[in-house]
Amino acid sequence: MTTWVTNAWYVAAWDAEIDHQPFARTICGLPMVFYRKLNRKIVALRDACPHRMLPLSKGIREGDSIRCSYHGLKLGPDGVAEEMPLKNEPVNARICAEAYITHERYRFVWVWIGEAAKADPALIPDLWPCAAPGWTFDGDYYHVACDFRLMIDNLMDLTHETYVHANSIGQEEILEAGIECVADNKNVWVRRWMPAVTAPPFWRAALAEEGPVDRWQICQFNLPASVMIDVGVARAGSGASLDKHDQGVRGMVIDFMTPETEDTHHYFWGMARNFEVNDAGFTSRFKAQQGQVFAEDKVVLEAQQQAIRANPDMRLNAYSIDQGGVRARQLISRAIKAQALEQVNEQENSQ
Ligand code: FES
Ligand SMILES: [Fe+2]
Repeated sequence: MTTWVTNAWYVAAWDAEIDHQPFARTICGLPMVFYRKLNRKIVALRDACPHRMLPLSKGIREGDSIRCSYHGLKLGPDGVAEEMPLKNEPVNARICAEAYITHERYRFVWVWIGEAAKADPALIPDLWPCAAPGWTFDGDYYHVACDFRLMIDNLMDLTHETYVHANSIGQEEILEAGIECVADNKNVWVRRWMPAVTAPPFWRAALAEEGPVDRWQICQFNLPASVMIDVGVARAGSGASLDKHDQGVRGMVIDFMTPETEDTHHYFWGMARNFEVNDAGFTSRFKAQQGQVFAEDKVVLEAQQQAIRANPDMRLNAYSIDQGGVRARQLISRAIKAQALEQVNEQENSQ
């Protein structure tokens, strides 16, 4: 059994990462090659030639098709053979590379992992701040050598900011403010309110004002593997609350963790914000600062993964600060078990 949910959409790439040239990325344990057709629609195929398994990503794109660069088998965008290595040989249409369903939304290329018949774009996670009027959104990608669930744990417990991000968004008051954690069958929320605190450097610069601020953090995990964090500060006493806070500066940290293997993942991160939305220079600087913050997480999480591997006689322990991550992991494992059961039932019904 995998550690991730199937029959779900996962982010495969930023839209700008995929162009007409073959692009290789392993998604949920499946090596895939991506490229755009002439009409810019995305092709996604298993990255192994059906002949001798040279990665198709080493191949040559010809129109909307791809030709393997070992013996020249040519496959169409649906993965089906179009030309055999021997030019005069009749094409055997049973030769094909597995093709995957993709969809573009929120500047991401999504790929469906699971049974093709169940793919429905309506099931793409609702990352509303990435497309809402009055908001702007940008971000980037890191490859992180750890189990994607360690990143979810990290994002659902922001006490680490005090130590890991001491020079940007960390502050002692995070450790003093209690958290509340609630969940339904697809989401977990962890909420923290910090009234009348000194804004840390990152938020001081964003607010462009001196003086005490009210600060909030609302982390929302959503199946199968995203976390959105509603963050910001408003001048203390300006009326902002945990439930309503459009005063001051508000951002939504967007995180999607796509498993690559059991202990590596693709981290797509960004920030949507509702202030200075037309300032492209601000967007670039904000992204660079955020990139530095997440690079600090990457160092910690990769060291954590190595320690997990080096200490197989130990196990992860959860304290009260970890309740968001624990509940997110419960949702993931429950969904995996429910799917396994559903498959068994479907198989029995079809016999
Ligand atoms: S390995 Fe691709 S054509 Fe032989
Ligand atoms: Fe962090």
